[in-house]
Amino acid sequence: MRELDSQVAVVTGGSRGIGRAIALELGRAGAAVAVVARSEDRARETADLLEGPGFALACDVADPDECKDLAAAVTERLGPIDVLVNNAGITRDNILVRLKDEDWDAVLETNLRGAFNTTRAVARGMMKRRSGRIINIASVVGLTGNRGQANYAASKAGLIGFTKSVAQELAARGVLVNAVAPGFIETDMTADLPEEARDALFERIPLGRFGTSQDIAGAVRFLTGPAAAYITGQVLVVDGGMVM
Ligand code: NAI
Repeated sequence: MRELDSQVAVVTGGSRGIGRAIALELGRAGAAVAVVARSEDRARETADLLEGPGFALACDVADPDECKDLAAAVTERLGPIDVLVNNAGITRDNILVRLKDEDWDAVLETNLRGAFNTTRAVARGMMKRRSGRIINIASVVGLTGNRGQANYAASKAGLIGFTKSVAQELAARGVLVNAVAPGFIETDMTADLPEEARDALFERIPLGRFGTSQDIAGAVRFLTGPAAAYITGQVLVVDGGMVM
């Protein structure tokens, strides 16, 4: 018996990187997984790797109607949703004075509004069944801020406030809501960082290595499982000790 046997999980931004690792890890833990990305073809590249049941689904998390359809489609195909992982996220980095309106809006719409859209769409079902886990993938920069990432850091700080608020609202209904705040994880998102910036970051990581998507997937698996039954409203920082 695995800890997520007979459970249904939804992972947004599941086509690659951290989201893919989370989807596969929850699958290994026994869950049936709906892998969500804007493109169904790309989501399928992960869904095809799942060990157990699951499927790929196209949904832009920034679109509230698509998120309502998402919740209905998953419930119809796999059953009621037990676990939601809000992982979809984007960056549009620039220093404040060069940050365009559309860069601000795009990042807030996907990273923060997106989590609101999906969470609202699944919360009612979880509340009715008096059980559920929601994990929001934030970032350490939501705690510390970061030069050149005012939009991204604001979205992730917002996500942490959202996590704590929703955790308080849903606790009485048995729904646990937590955030994971990754540090520097090697994915497509961080691949373009200049060598100098990488070196400077590396110096700040006590564990002496960059993180992997699997490091985050392990933390998410913990927060979805029985060992985390008494944890809600928390931010689990997974960053090799960078921020203490
Ligand atoms: P990535 O860029 O490799 O993957 C992001 C995923 O989100 C992709 O599958 C993309 O298609 C999807 N996505 C983007 N916008 C979407 C939308 N509107 N609707 C649905 N899906 C959408 O990024 P990575 O590195 O895997 O990041 C995953 C999460 O972890 C993000 O929320 C990111 O902010 C967060 N994070 C990443 C860190 C890192 O060092 N890589 C550090 C801290 C947080």
